[in-house]
Amino acid sequence: PRHDALVPDPQPTFDSVDLHALAARLGTPLYAYSANAIRQRIGELQRALHGLDATICYAVKANSNRAILELMAAAGLGADIVSAGELQRALASGIPAHRIVFSGVGKTDVEIDAALAAGIARFNVESLDELHAIERVAAARHVVANAAVRINPDVDALTHAKISTGRAENKFGVSIAEARRWFAERRQLANVRLDGLHVHIGSQILELEPFRLALNRVASFWRELVHAGHPIASIDVGGGLGVRYRAGHDEPIAAADFAGVVRAALAGFHGHLLLEPGRYLVAEAGVLLTRVLRIKEGTERSFLVLDAAMNDLQRPSLYDAWHDIVPVSPEPRPLATYDVVGPVCETGDTFARARVLPACEPGDLLAIQGTGAYGASMASTYNSRPLAAEVLLDDGRYAVIRRRQTLEEMVAGEQSAQDWATP
Ligand code: LLP
Repeated sequence: PRHDALVPDPQPTFDSVDLHALAARLGTPLYAYSANAIRQRIGELQRALHGLDATICYAVKANSNRAILELMAAAGLGADIVSAGELQRALASGIPAHRIVFSGVGKTDVEIDAALAAGIARFNVESLDELHAIERVAAARHVVANAAVRINPDVDALTHAKISTGRAENKFGVSIAEARRWFAERRQLANVRLDGLHVHIGSQILELEPFRLALNRVASFWRELVHAGHPIASIDVGGGLGVRYRAGHDEPIAAADFAGVVRAALAGFHGHLLLEPGRYLVAEAGVLLTRVLRIKEGTERSFLVLDAAMNDLQRPSLYDAWHDIVPVSPEPRPLATYDVVGPVCETGDTFARARVLPACEPGDLLAIQGTGAYGASMASTYNSRPLAAEVLLDDGRYAVIRRRQTLEEMVAGEQSAQDWATP
């Protein structure tokens, strides 16, 4: 165990908001996001991209709360969406359609139509079948859709297998060989303007090398296309920038270094650059506040039972992800070793195994850190546990941005089987 990494924050505030008072008022589990931390990340990335014609399209899936999207809109960001639901959220939050790009292998005709109706900037196309679907739906609307081909560069992003997307074996994108054929035949498409490239190799990437490799492959393909008479108006370099989940352990890439790799790989490209970061902008700006329900001494291990569970935060169960857990308590305590678990009836409902923490007591408030991305957005009501509340913090003030779900809301939409019909 790395005892040196376990320095609890002596100041139990976040964005100058007293976390004890907040939890007492709003209850737990509670997601709290720092608006200033998000603005800071946006600023860092924008500064790193200075001088480039680039649009940051926030990956809505990372945290799709309306208030978070409104922060992105206020900073001039666009959105990377993957469904009609995300399209609707982005538009409703004030993100203009001309800054929205649409990714994903399973876009339906209805979703393509909704995106065309809204007038989004571009589709990131993942298969020939999808390209034809966009052509068909755009023709019916008498519009021309802008499209980029998502390149699968067959690069190992050196991240968890479940969030790795750029290997040939993954379902995402198409090979350069296939993309070459699309461009050769692009003039047969009357309602699709195929003039963009897109690449996204995975998430929580902590090494520069996979980015460099992937972008170099995309760049040499871009040069080949231009020579072959296919102008490229936009290159979307995806998301994937990793964050620090474990203090003293993870070493994330600096935005400036990432931008340096983009500048080097795409030197001479005078079209429009797109980026799709999700996690980088919001992960470290969020904590999941939770209370200790009880400490259970098993025959082999001590279990710290929290009031948050895998339904609130899936990342540890799904990806064996590490999240730092810190007591929101100023007083020093002796250290103890716990398996940190939730109340859900699965052994996988474990946030951490053999974690060394200051000794806890029932009622103690803990912060599970780095949960601003892929936390609330992946939550479910499994075990019939209502969705947690979410709150935005800004310079000592807070605003509830999602009420805690009531039990009535949780079951709304369900009904007894009585109005039987045949299809
Ligand atoms: N663009 C595309 C096409 C994507 O599929 C994704 C994420 C992003 C951008 C944003 O990636 P980011 O910058 O956030 O790494 N639930 C997982 C992560 C799944 C990521 C899916 N795609 C987790 O909690 O680790």
